[in-house]
Formats: sequence, structure tokens, C-alpha cells
Amino acid sequence: MKKIVLSLAIVSLLFSCNKQEDSITTTDGNLAETVGKRGCYSDEHLKDQLAADPTLAKRMEEFELKAAEAIAQGRIVNGVLEIPVVFNVLYRTTAENISLAQLQSQIDVLNKDFNAQNSDYNTANNPYSSVRANVGIRFVLDQVIRKSTTKSSWGTADAMKKANRGGLAPTSPTTKLNIWVCTIGGGILGYAQFPGGSSATDGVVLDGKYTGTTGTATYPFNLGRTATHEVGHWMNLRHIWGDATCGTDSVSDTPVHNAANYGVPAVGHRSTCSGTPLEMYMNYMDYTDDRGMYMFSGGQKTRMLAIFDVGGSRASFR
Ligand code: ARG
Ligand code: ZN
Ligand code: CA
Repeated sequence: MKKIVLSLAIVSLLFSCNKQEDSITTTDGNLAETVGKRGCYSDEHLKDQLAADPTLAKRMEEFELKAAEAIAQGRIVNGVLEIPVVFNVLYRTTAENISLAQLQSQIDVLNKDFNAQNSDYNTANNPYSSVRANVGIRFVLDQVIRKSTTKSSWGTADAMKKANRGGLAPTSPTTKLNIWVCTIGGGILGYAQFPGGSSATDGVVLDGKYTGTTGTATYPFNLGRTATHEVGHWMNLRHIWGDATCGTDSVSDTPVHNAANYGVPAVGHRSTCSGTPLEMYMNYMDYTDDRGMYMFSGGQKTRMLAIFDVGGSRASFR
């Protein structure tokens, strides 16, 4: 991840001289002397800081270990965080026991949408094209766990996550994204747990009819965007209208919306809030039909990546 690369760069700066200073030569042409004595103050500076702050060495060492561990475990590949996904499929009817192909199609959508590879990313006349973001997080299908049940709908009180209520407990929720696929009922497409909640219920719930792009996936929510939206919540994003009239999503590059949008809003649709900004109804965190949403913003990306930083609420996924 960018932050990791950045922090590593800072640490390596502390330990080494930068190129420009390396090339400074003295009048007597003694390069080594120059580097040792004037060209590289970073090392001296670090020594001073280490002497002044007895906890610094330990913090730096811990950071090195974390970075090494993350790289060794392969969770960060070429700077991109990879999140293993466990699907927990709960079914009563055979139709509810959705196919591996349908689950894989959902993984494929997540990988496209979070890496600016979705075919609608370059939709013409997007007034917000300049703030579109390549989030740069990848999803890998890790396991599919299936369980036959007698329940015809599961609601939104997390019963599907509890073995003693007929559901399936999450698998390794601090290192894997658990997605429960079941019939929710009540017209709910899906829901997510925000960062900071109990690991016993952590993850995303999707109704099977709004999962992936094949099999039982049902128009107008048949493009896998319910998961994109819910994983956005799981990564700390709020609805773009801030769940209030002209509310805030705590992201500065998304405009103020007066309310959720449904269907596919007309091009040029404006909010009724102060300044009547053009709404970013093509954002995954709005409520439009799947074909109407195709971007996260740069500010949303920053907010999502922050939870995976060292000390962040989902740092255990690194
Ligand atoms: N939690 C929202 C709901 O259940 C999900 C909205 C997802 N939107 C979509 N186009 N798939 O209504
Ligand atoms: Zn939502
Ligand atoms: Ca905003």
C-alpha cells in the first residue's frame, strides 16, 4: 500500500543518504569524507532522536517486523493489499445454493471496481472524472463454506453469522473478509459491519439474488455492485448523502447530496443543498441501480486505505 511504501521510504531515508547529497564532493575530492561528515546528516539526526526518545527504537523495530511479516505472508503483493474472501453460503432451496461461478463473478467485480478496471469506469460526460480513484485493493477467493438450513429469510440482526441460530460463524475474521450469502428479506440487498465492531460478526451480508453477475443475479442489481457498496462500508465509507438531508460522508471531494438517488439519475442532476452542486450519483456509495454506479473518489480511497495502516482498525489484514 502507498502508506507502507511511503513509511518505508521515510525509514530508509533515516538510515541512508539521499542521492543528491551522495554526489557532493569536497575540493580535495574526498567523496567518502564528504558523505560521512557533511553529506548525510540523517544518521546523526536519527541517533539524536534515538537518544532523546527511548521508545523510538522499539517503535521502528516493530514497524520493520510488521512490514517484513506482511511481505513474507504475501498479503501485500507489489504494494497492493490482497484480501482473502470467505463466502458463507446459507441455503434452503437449491437456487439459494448459488454456484461457484456466481461467487467467482462477484470476486471479479470487486477486483474491477476497486482497481479502476470496470468497463464503465470511463463513462462519457462524468463531471467527476478528475476525482475518480483506483483504490488498488485486490480480492482473492479463499474458501466457500455451504450450509443447508430451514430458514426462508435471515433478516438484518446477524443470525446468519451465528452457529447457534442456524448460521455460520466467520472464519478468521481478523485476516479474511467474510461474506455471507443468503436470503435477507425485506427488500434488503445487503449490509455490512463498519470497522471497529465485534470480530464475531465482522464482514458483509449479501442476498444471493444480488451477488455477482451470473446465475440468480437479478436486474437491476445484477452487476455485483451491492458487494462493491457494502465492502465500501466495511472499509469505513459512509453513504454519499451522509444519511441525512445534506449530511456529510466525511470525504471532502464528494459533493453534498440532499438524499439518496435511485434508478439511474439524469446527467447533470443537482443537489438542493447549499450551492446546488452537481451530485456524484455515479458513486458506489449512492443507492442507484448497479448500471448507474461506477466510481469511488480519491478522498474515499484515502479513507479506505487508512484503516489498513499500522495502528488502523483493520491493520491485521496487512
Ligand atoms: N444496503 C443497500 C440496500 O440494501 C445496498 C445498496 C446497493 N446498491 C446497489 N445498486 N447494488 O439497499
Ligand atoms: Zn449502504
Ligand atoms: Ca463529501
